[in-house]
Amino acid sequence: MKKLFIKTYGCQMNVYDSARMADLLAPLGYGPTDAPDEADMVILNTCHIREKAAEKIYSELGRMKKLKDAKQRAGGAMTIAVAGCVAQAEGAEILARQNAVDLVVGPQSYHRLPEMIAKLARGAGHALETDFPAEAKFDALPENDAGAAPAAFLTVQEGCDKFCSFCVVPYTRGSEFSRPVMQVAAEAEGLVAKGAREVTLLGQNVNAYRGPGPDGEIWSLAQLIGALAQIEGLQRLRYMTSHPRDMGDDLIAAHRDVEALMPYLHLPVQSGSDPILHAMNRQHTAEDYLRLVERFRAARPDIALSSDFIVGFPGETDKDFEATLSLVRAVGYAQAFSFKYSARPGTPAAAAHKQVPDDVKNARLQALQALLSAQQDAFNTGCAGRILPILFEKPGRKDGQAVGRTPYLQPVHVDGAASLIGRIVDVRIEAVLSNSLKGVLTRPLEKVLAH
Ligand code: SAH
Ligand code: SF4
Ligand code: F3S
Repeated sequence: MKKLFIKTYGCQMNVYDSARMADLLAPLGYGPTDAPDEADMVILNTCHIREKAAEKIYSELGRMKKLKDAKQRAGGAMTIAVAGCVAQAEGAEILARQNAVDLVVGPQSYHRLPEMIAKLARGAGHALETDFPAEAKFDALPENDAGAAPAAFLTVQEGCDKFCSFCVVPYTRGSEFSRPVMQVAAEAEGLVAKGAREVTLLGQNVNAYRGPGPDGEIWSLAQLIGALAQIEGLQRLRYMTSHPRDMGDDLIAAHRDVEALMPYLHLPVQSGSDPILHAMNRQHTAEDYLRLVERFRAARPDIALSSDFIVGFPGETDKDFEATLSLVRAVGYAQAFSFKYSARPGTPAAAAHKQVPDDVKNARLQALQALLSAQQDAFNTGCAGRILPILFEKPGRKDGQAVGRTPYLQPVHVDGAASLIGRIVDVRIEAVLSNSLKGVLTRPLEKVLAH
């Protein structure tokens, strides 16, 4: 058995892709390892979204080169592959900067990995694949073998046509593409048969999903969710990431009508200032976003909201930043991610004149994160004392403990619940920790197991 070490950076689409690359290489005799020094093949599945993310790859490659050299001195061999968005964005430059790299494969070409490995074995030298055949990729992948993970990811949509002025994704992932409904349904059924109880539908702009349906019509994400909710044993559905511009009435209604659809929505707004939203090419105003939030809350009053924010976008003034804080106060988030603007080569905003100094960005990030984390604490505290259904996903750090998630995606630790992994069980929330909750079973374990 050869050993495969994959290190994943970036978003959940990369997590999904890493799992699919492992599926793809399993028939070639590669089994997973957590130890890069014993790996025959190392794949870094990379992210290009911010400068720091991209630069990290080169230091990691430096470390991998040392392991490769050591292995070669001992008479062995190691293949190093760079996959993901840095591979797509920088391509041959990676081979030039780090000669220990053997393969560079973009996110739409990784189904070609077996071919590339064979070519390398024939001594044909470095291999580079950065084409964009998204359709061919999904057709060429083997069955999703996510093991028995209770909560699985399933990519239904890829790429982005929005071209926000700060973002590399339209360039690294290509234009929007939706997988056919029946292909998605078959993959979801397979995941459920292997033990998944929850499936998160992934897409860079997942609510822009327009997939060919079995009736020859184009289906929306809400229609897809309606169909998947019929799958026996599939108890929870989630989706991410959504764009405010693509939100359909039917998707909002699905949060009222589809029981399996969890009350959680990641809806990035980026900024609360209209001039900044305009400069970002987000194609909506702060008011548009607030109206959308109202409509979701009307459909599903307990829905937990999450967002992404960028501070220090070029030209952002104190007043613009204040508008972001006001929007946050108006919404009340359960959870959020916030970032300092990072100028990305080739994006329109990188060429803007009024770049914001780093100390200003730092101060704004700190202020925003303080507000967001207070909101998160308030949301979590509001759950104390409640009984919530928890899908147990994996063992906790302590013996016998299991970690699961609430419908609102908060992690919950429960002692003595290890035998409940893969099941949804009622838990009373007893304590709120910094980033998670602590709970207890509402019934004795034997009773739960007998049920
Ligand atoms: N498709 C999603 C987000 C993809 S990238 C959406 O439409 O929102 C994830 C997050 O990274 C973005 O929401 C944004 O907040 C952040 N991001 C993207 N480009 C960035 C940049 N150049 N600098 C800082 N943060 C960035
Ligand atoms: Fe990037 Fe904007 Fe597309 Fe999201 S919608 S991936 S932020 S360009
Ligand atoms: Fe990063 Fe590419 Fe995802 S740039 S955030 S890995 S789409």
